Amino acid sequence: MDLGLKGKNAIVTGGSQGVGLAIAQGLAREGCNVAIGARGKEQLEKAAENLRALGVNSVAITADFSTSEGCSKFVADASSQLGGIDILVNNVGGMTPGSIESLTDEQWQASIDLNLMSFIWTSRAALPHLKQSSSGRILNVSGLSGTQLLPGAWTTTIANTGILGITKQLANELAANNITVNSICPGTVRTEAWMGPRADAMAKARGMTSDEVRAMMASFAMLNRLAEPEEIGDVAAFLVSEKNSYMTGTTVEVCGGWSKYLG
Ligand SMILES: NC(=O)c1ccc[n+]([C@@H]2O[C@H](COP(=O)([O-])OP(=O)(O)OC[C@H]3O[C@@H](n4cnc5c(N)ncnc54)[C@H](OP(=O)(O)O)[C@@H]3O)[C@@H](O)[C@H]2O)c1
Repeated sequence: MDLGLKGKNAIVTGGSQGVGLAIAQGLAREGCNVAIGARGKEQLEKAAENLRALGVNSVAITADFSTSEGCSKFVADASSQLGGIDILVNNVGGMTPGSIESLTDEQWQASIDLNLMSFIWTSRAALPHLKQSSSGRILNVSGLSGTQLLPGAWTTTIANTGILGITKQLANELAANNITVNSICPGTVRTEAWMGPRADAMAKARGMTSDEVRAMMASFAMLNRLAEPEEIGDVAAFLVSEKNSYMTGTTVEVCGGWSKYLG
């Protein structure tokens, strides 16, 4: 199926690795140009080079999404380097481990700024560009802690519940401009972090091996495995495509059957 993404311009926050890069690759495989933003220049440029190898234009823009100015600058630079924006993917985020008693005010603020406010700041900055597109799309990356209890996942829970609210509000406000806004909710993805430092840190905290941690995360899914990055990228590409013209304000779970609620 031709998704109609050839020659469109997309921008992805936090696109140098992990879920963001998986989505950027999914878009590039469909012929969509992609601007990716992150802090680490070397990794970002390597990722953009790999995206260009898929035959599209890709630009690497160093950015700090934890401030409003950083988000606005990324959008302005990406738009001028790509020549407009049709698709925004709000992906950037990270988890700060801790409890209500251990998390400091600074950690809370930093987590909320990066995982939640960046979605608002980047969307706001991108709106004038998206409104000029004939097929404007926003895709917000959320997580299962937004819809069900994941004990201890304080900082992502606050962000992910908020992202679902942002998705609904934005979808309602932008419907008149024919811009659709949806959310994609991955389960555990076989990313660099889960194959390395994230699993290692959880293993240390729980007295398990990293392989045992990955097996435990896999066991939460009915399919009993982690998601391959392409499995997220392909669904994301469909969600922001012209083929997906009547879905807005909703969340699509790509979690191998982890969520167990009905309806
Ligand atoms: N991985 C999963 O299994 C999974 C599951 C469900 C949901 N998610 C969601 O997917 C999103 C990405 O997660 P991930 O696991 O793929 O993360 P990740 O592997 O840690 O990658 C994070 C990306 O964001 C960039 N980044 C981090 N802080 C930044 C900042 N202040 N300014 C600019 N860029 C920044 C990183 O590059 P630099 O460090 O170089 O800046 C990197 O490109 C998050 O919203 C997460 O909640 C992930």
